[in-house]
Amino acid sequence: VSAGMVHDLVVADDGAVSFTFHLTREDPATLARDARKAVQAVTGVAAVKINVVDPGAKLESGAAGRTGPSAPPGAVPPPPTPEAMPHLGRVLAVSSGKGGVGKSTVSANLAAALALQGHRVGVMDADVYGPNIPRMFGRDAKPEVIGGKIQPLEAYGVKLMSLGFIVERDAPAIWRGPIIMKIIGQFLRDVAWGQLDYLVVDLPPGTGDAQLSLVQTIHLDGVLIVTTPQEMAVGDSLRGAKMFERVGVRVLGVAENMSYYVCPHCGERSEVFLAGGGGRLAAELGVPLLGQIPLQAGMPQLADAGRPIVVAAPDSPAGAALRDLAGAVVATLGRAVPLNTLAR
Ligand SMILES: Nc1ncnc2c1ncn2[C@@H]1O[C@H](COP(=O)(O)OP(=O)(O)OP(=O)(O)O)[C@@H](O)[C@H]1O
Ligand SMILES: [Mg+2]
Repeated sequence: VSAGMVHDLVVADDGAVSFTFHLTREDPATLARDARKAVQAVTGVAAVKINVVDPGAKLESGAAGRTGPSAPPGAVPPPPTPEAMPHLGRVLAVSSGKGGVGKSTVSANLAAALALQGHRVGVMDADVYGPNIPRMFGRDAKPEVIGGKIQPLEAYGVKLMSLGFIVERDAPAIWRGPIIMKIIGQFLRDVAWGQLDYLVVDLPPGTGDAQLSLVQTIHLDGVLIVTTPQEMAVGDSLRGAKMFERVGVRVLGVAENMSYYVCPHCGERSEVFLAGGGGRLAAELGVPLLGQIPLQAGMPQLADAGRPIVVAAPDSPAGAALRDLAGAVVATLGRAVPLNTLAR
């Protein structure tokens, strides 16, 4: 408030609080979330509605010309106008509110499954804090630069780019907003992806600089939300998904990971965690539950060995579920015109 960032504060009788929050490009993206938390912590507050506005970017935001469920004028993030990059094909982000729910596992297996079906696929690791894609594909080498273009690495027919290939494994991940924006821009523009059918973007958890940079740089064709069945994970995922909706990115659906466990001896299926979170999240967002992936023993070991389960054990319960998920994602994407090929 003292910084002059809070405007139009309205407190309704029923405890609903709303205000406009002036946030510039230089402010940390977590500020709005912190502000929400602070307001929620006040006794008597029932609901908080924050309209985030960048006062310096009003002109640019009007020209953005987004399609889909459009964001309110001036909503985060207004600058800069995302570009069309037709050579990347359909660009799909894999996101979650909470860490460790299986985004990278889903990204890697989705990409590998699509490549197995004969599609031209790339994976961009946008998890600049903890890049896992190199390990999950068993590749670790410095990418070559030819003619000013960074050459992606390749495994199982999937083209790969990750900060993990470029920085040392033990380098502290202290990237700030503008640097992350730059890295993501370079990964999209300066990597020799060739012509792709699908680019899968593996995101870090939450709604931070990587997510904002991504939606500001490129038109996403959709985002897949990964959650686990527990209620806590679902609440976090809902917040994450809402952020994408707010900036006009289509939420394709929900993938519920670690949904159940199939006993390898008797084949009996049991719910390990509280059941049904993925379905509830999908219902709340009004999107389909695109897949349920069982918890599977041996999967972390396969991932560590650089072998996506859809390649190493395609007929295992998790392998089959991930292949089904890839089919469901393609079918869902197929119903929409790819944003990156739209003339604009
Ligand atoms: N269905 C599953 N069965 C068994 N293990 C799994 C399953 N899905 C993921 N895992 C394991 O759980 C761990 C976390 O998965 P993963 O790295 O994909 O999550 P993440 O959401 O990308 O995490 P982060 O938020 O850190 O990026 C990994 O060791 C992975 O192998
Ligand atoms: Mg990850």
